[in-house]
Amino acid sequence: MPLVNMKPLLRDAMDNGYAVAAFNLVDYGTTKAMVKAAEELNAPVICQTSAKTIQYWSHKEIVSWVRTAAEDSPVPVVLHLDHCKDLAMIEECAKAGWTSIMIDASEFPFEKNLEMSLRVREIAEKYGVGMEAELGQIMGVEDDMVVAEEDSVLTDPDDAKKFCDALDLSAFACAVGTAHGYYKGEPKVDFDRIQRINELTKTPMALHGGTGLSDETFAKAIARGAAKINISTNLKHVFVESFVKYHEAKPNDYEPLRLIDAQYQACKAMFADFIEKFGGKDRAQPYLAKAA
Ligand code: 13P
Repeated sequence: MPLVNMKPLLRDAMDNGYAVAAFNLVDYGTTKAMVKAAEELNAPVICQTSAKTIQYWSHKEIVSWVRTAAEDSPVPVVLHLDHCKDLAMIEECAKAGWTSIMIDASEFPFEKNLEMSLRVREIAEKYGVGMEAELGQIMGVEDDMVVAEEDSVLTDPDDAKKFCDALDLSAFACAVGTAHGYYKGEPKVDFDRIQRINELTKTPMALHGGTGLSDETFAKAIARGAAKINISTNLKHVFVESFVKYHEAKPNDYEPLRLIDAQYQACKAMFADFIEKFGGKDRAQPYLAKAA
């Protein structure tokens, strides 16, 4: 089916107590694996792209992969732009076929963040796509953006309300104690903050920094309003390690298709595992029936 808008999908997730998994794609193989994993579980999925990945490939290539993978699939697939502060690039994605865009102006003071996000609101309306914006600063490294622990700022619930009221977001990214990349110690997720922000904003929350969180943390965050959960680092590791492992096990096998198939299967299994954990299984058809 054609790619879908993120907004009604995440509303459904929030209203029905599940979260849609969002994976940062690497190439066509990982794109296909995430859509197939979703299809096998009758689940919706978000294929998202870091700005760096778009710069490496191109808008045209990425749109063609995601559309190709989604076209013959009966489940809803979103193509989303992850953290981006370049307004020209954001508009280019919306124009090229992304069905959701993210502005990350969280490094700026509230007013400037809101002003930039409002400009992206206009872009989202112009192209009829979903939108995510961020308030507070999530620690860790994502793409080439680095936020040190001492610079991270948890999102203030009252500011979150002002921000969300002005923006009518499909997804609200906020800092609630999670971090991009692997956790060094025990993650300290502020569940009360998630709940308070959700009660005030009534906006589906995007939980960033999904790699390394426990099943219990996922369940508690989802029960409090996390409707989109981002996974990137875990994919990077499975992508590299499955390739290396295959070659180590079969050092004389120089048939690339067997090697990339082993990588594809490992990535697909990882995607399926997260989709199930987030409660996405068997949510696609009921959502589509309601949306029709
Ligand atoms: P991880 O790299 O920790 O999985 O976080 C991904 C993310 O939040 C992308 O925006």
